[in-house]
Amino acid sequence: MPQPETTMAKLDATTPQPIQLKDYTPPSFLIDKVDLTFDLEEDHTRVTSRLVLHRNPAHPDARAALQLDGRELELESVKLDGELLDSSRYELDAESLSIAAMPDNAILEIVTVIHPETNTSLNGLYRSGANFYSQCEAEGFRKITYYLDRPDVMARFSTTIVADKQKWPVLLSNGNKVGEGMLDRNRHWVKWVDPFKKPAYLFALVAGKLSLLADRYTTTSGREVALEIWVEPADLDKCAHAMSSVKKSMQWDEQRYGLEYDLDTYMIVAVGDFNMGAMENKGLNIFNTKYVLARADTATDVDFDGIEAVIAHEYFHNWTGNRVTCRDWFQLSLKEGLTVFRDQEFSADMGSAEVCRIDAVRTLRTHQFAEDAGPMAHPIRPESYIEINNFYTVTVYEKGAEVVRMYQTLLGRDGFRKGMDLYFKRHDGQAVTCDDFRAAMADANDYDLGQFARWYSQAGTPVLRVRGQYDAAAQTYTLEVSQSCPATPGQAEKLPFHIPLTLGLVGPDGADLPLQLAGEAEAVAGSRVLSVKEASQTFHFINVAVEPVPSLLRNFSAPVKLDFPYSRPQLVHLLAHDSDAFCRWEAGQTLMLQDLQGLIDAARSGGELELKDDFVAAMRRVLADESLDPALVALMLTLPAETYLADQQDEIDPDAIRAGREAMKLGLARALRSEFKAAYTRMLDSGAYQYEATAVARRSLKNIALAYLSELDESGLMELAERQFAEANNMTDAQAALACLVNWPEGDAALASFASKWADEALVMDKWFTLQASSRRLGVVAKIKALMQHPAFALTNPNKVRSLIGTFVHNNLAGFHAIDGSGYEFAADTLLAVDKLNPQVAARLAGSFNRWKKLEPVRRAHMRAALERVAAHAGLSRDVYEIVSKNLM
Ligand code: ARG
Ligand code: ZN
Repeated sequence: MPQPETTMAKLDATTPQPIQLKDYTPPSFLIDKVDLTFDLEEDHTRVTSRLVLHRNPAHPDARAALQLDGRELELESVKLDGELLDSSRYELDAESLSIAAMPDNAILEIVTVIHPETNTSLNGLYRSGANFYSQCEAEGFRKITYYLDRPDVMARFSTTIVADKQKWPVLLSNGNKVGEGMLDRNRHWVKWVDPFKKPAYLFALVAGKLSLLADRYTTTSGREVALEIWVEPADLDKCAHAMSSVKKSMQWDEQRYGLEYDLDTYMIVAVGDFNMGAMENKGLNIFNTKYVLARADTATDVDFDGIEAVIAHEYFHNWTGNRVTCRDWFQLSLKEGLTVFRDQEFSADMGSAEVCRIDAVRTLRTHQFAEDAGPMAHPIRPESYIEINNFYTVTVYEKGAEVVRMYQTLLGRDGFRKGMDLYFKRHDGQAVTCDDFRAAMADANDYDLGQFARWYSQAGTPVLRVRGQYDAAAQTYTLEVSQSCPATPGQAEKLPFHIPLTLGLVGPDGADLPLQLAGEAEAVAGSRVLSVKEASQTFHFINVAVEPVPSLLRNFSAPVKLDFPYSRPQLVHLLAHDSDAFCRWEAGQTLMLQDLQGLIDAARSGGELELKDDFVAAMRRVLADESLDPALVALMLTLPAETYLADQQDEIDPDAIRAGREAMKLGLARALRSEFKAAYTRMLDSGAYQYEATAVARRSLKNIALAYLSELDESGLMELAERQFAEANNMTDAQAALACLVNWPEGDAALASFASKWADEALVMDKWFTLQASSRRLGVVAKIKALMQHPAFALTNPNKVRSLIGTFVHNNLAGFHAIDGSGYEFAADTLLAVDKLNPQVAARLAGSFNRWKKLEPVRRAHMRAALERVAAHAGLSRDVYEIVSKNLM
């Protein structure tokens, strides 16, 4: 629909300008060596930096100035080759320090003062409590000292930290500790040297009172590595799972890719104030406490999974990210897509591969498909950005991982390994591009990946339209496959992608039929991968003895939407028999989605909200099938998120979506009451908590059964949840029971006892906020505002903001989209308040407006008004500016 002119902040010199991939030029200087000294004090920090530089022959202008990046720095002095420069010899502005007359080789000594103690952005060097922590990716190092803060400038670092010994006894940085000693005023120093060249974004510093969990690991080649996890003293009893995850990750990367750790020490530090999950700084990974700390009574199975995956992710970055890094930030998916793929493969090997795959697809569809369909849509290698922090997205990470997975699907596991080996052989120690990775895969396998490049440059979710035709007389089955991709901002037309389509043909008995394409001598058993490259193409299968049901996109072989006109009996057949677990689950989801859509439509038009018999019968069979992995059963019974349902609508009516989805829950609970009770009882486990695949699977089925049963307003069933809440010996069961209770008045007492029990455990209190923000009874604006006054809440802490406010605006569709617009007013006010403290966190909240154009008219008008109010606000960060301006385009 056409939109009238919008009131944007006036375009002037301060309007943030986009950075373009096509403008990439090599740096004018390179830095060989940097020696840093940090003097940490309560009210300031002095940073002395000594840079050894030389002119870069690859730069087009041999007399170019040196322009160092720097922000919010107090410059004390600059020395060039030992000579103190007066201010006529350099130029200083809000973002840089430039020196025009530079020799080809130089030593620069720069002294700056910074203020970590007032840095609420958690970007650069900052305080959390009394301790110091750093976060430099992507461009935080320029808030520490003037530097060439870009990933294609790789230097050898040494870091000396000087601080009061009582206040900051532990002083950590990258690499190996080479010396320490005492100074005057009870101050001590520690010096670290990192032998590997690295970009500044991998620099890290930690100082404070921390406790250590120490262990050791011996690599395959016999290198001894000290493993260290540093946490606040009270958390030392929650580090065992993290430590075992480190060892598993190290072992897995050696076995799967032949990659060993390369320093004497691998350190992890956990901090409660952190903008993201974790950061792979060389030798000194810094983690959000959420991805380190776990004890049976404080962390859920999902938390344990997350810790194992994020530890693997950061550890794996040592090779995919650190040894080989990105030339520029447009190439972010080079390290992130690849490293997510690696951590997904690791998790698959540690637990159930099928469950991991379905979880990954659910995340992709719920979050990435939405991003791809909205105003922020971008290819995995974006072509421009205003603020790079806005591009740490599900597209760059999760779709990026799907793109890497497609190489493996096309080339096979061995072929993929050959490509990885060649990539490291060619590029170890370099800063490279996504094209370099693709070339390594192509060259190692002598395989044409030219067309595959479009996955990097075209945004949007492709649609794969498939039609099948069985010819009984000729015994052939013909598949017509065509692809298209919707327009996205700045990209009206798309060219065909190279899509791996993994498929099977399922016979009437449920077994896979042999697969033989016309012209082939022999048939293949089970599944095979077709290369789809044209806008339309046809595949002829021969010797097909019976009419099959096609099982398409097995294991979700490409990040696309499949359009195949399955009949309901065909879906029921695949749900019962498909040899591919993903496709089995998918058949159930397709049925569920069809019926949910029917319920949503009925809710909107005031019709009857009733479930279809064939669907209920299929779910009954799933639930009663004791031969199925309980985790798969739980996934099959899990409803798609409200937001995912919203994305399937032409026009979003949040109340109808909630009503339809609630009707589905209640309908299934009523129809399958005794099956749910039986499953709950069957899955009960009286032993001690164990984080182990079988036990996790059993708890997942038990707790989804409880969730359905608690929909029924029956006293005996509510007591089941109350009993589980009171008697649980682990957080998975306690939290699951509380999640049921909060939707009813019985929840108030449980919430109160939970809060008093866990008042001192920040991560557990995050759960308490999340549960209320997502509750259908409590998730309303007035309640959220009241919770913001709770002593455990803090607007300065990203975990708290995400748990309470993020959950409400992103996940509680009907609560956030109250018809009076109060949710949008609240989101606008809150994100403006957060923006003053922490732009990165504020920008994530601003993403809650991304669906506005698809809302029904009343809400659309309210949301637009809120967006315009934010856009017109003076002093907006670049982060938030980019999101709201792209929404209003
Ligand atoms: N590289 C980190 C990771 O492992 C994340 C850094 C996120 N940085 C940011 N500015 N958002 O995924
Ligand atoms: Zn990463």
